[in-house]
Amino acid sequence: MTTSPNTQNNMQKQILRIEASISGDKGISTQITRELSEALQNKYPDNALIVRNVITDAIPHFDASTIGHIKDGTAALADALIEEVQAADIIIIAAPMYNFSVPSQLTTWFDHIARAGVTFQYTSKGPVGLLKGKKVYVVSTRGGMHKGKASDVVTPYLNTILGFVGLDEDLKTIFVEGLNLSGDQPAQAIAQARQTIKTIQANKTTHPSTEKEAVS
Ligand SMILES: Cc1cc2nc3c(=O)[nH]c(=O)nc-3n(C[C@H](O)[C@H](O)[C@H](O)COP(=O)(O)O)c2cc1C
Repeated sequence: MTTSPNTQNNMQKQILRIEASISGDKGISTQITRELSEALQNKYPDNALIVRNVITDAIPHFDASTIGHIKDGTAALADALIEEVQAADIIIIAAPMYNFSVPSQLTTWFDHIARAGVTFQYTSKGPVGLLKGKKVYVVSTRGGMHKGKASDVVTPYLNTILGFVGLDEDLKTIFVEGLNLSGDQPAQAIAQARQTIKTIQANKTTHPSTEKEAVS
């Protein structure tokens, strides 16, 4: 199990980067999440980085056999994925839009980390997320312009599933939109994302309880 160094020194950071582009190194979400992770590594020199690529290391679909393994205590991969999230102080998630959703490989990752009694629990007032005190960045890349429109079904889904497991306390989504449009929009969207990363790196404000940078 990976343990967080943050318990020893609150300046140390465990960073988990989830890559999810079918275009690999050429994926804009891959490039922006890597640049964000480098910026955060520079910001917190005492860090440990884990990269989980859900495309190249595809996670099997969550099915009845997975539930059986969880009941038997033999769900090694799901356990490992949960431990990576539990250990992380900062989580960076690449979320490319494919056919109005996120890659099925990414929803499969969520299927494996959403576990009753471990990452969420049902109470008399409804579900409560158990993953607490983490900074989460989502890099949401799209070919078109969807932010604030009915066609953006990605954002409600991600906000809901992240909130379900408690990862919405300090959540920032970096939108990189219009990447397939002609003209200046793609370059402008990427430049804007890079500017946001610079701001995040420079931001000295800390989250009062978690000592992480505040949402900017
Ligand atoms: C299979 C596929 C489906 C796509 N579907 C959509 C879509 O529904 N809406 C959209 O705006 N862009 C869509 N795009 C464009 C991607 O969102 C865009 O290329 C973005 O850069 C993907 O992120 P990535 O570069 O990190 O892979 C699609 C691209 C691919 C390859």
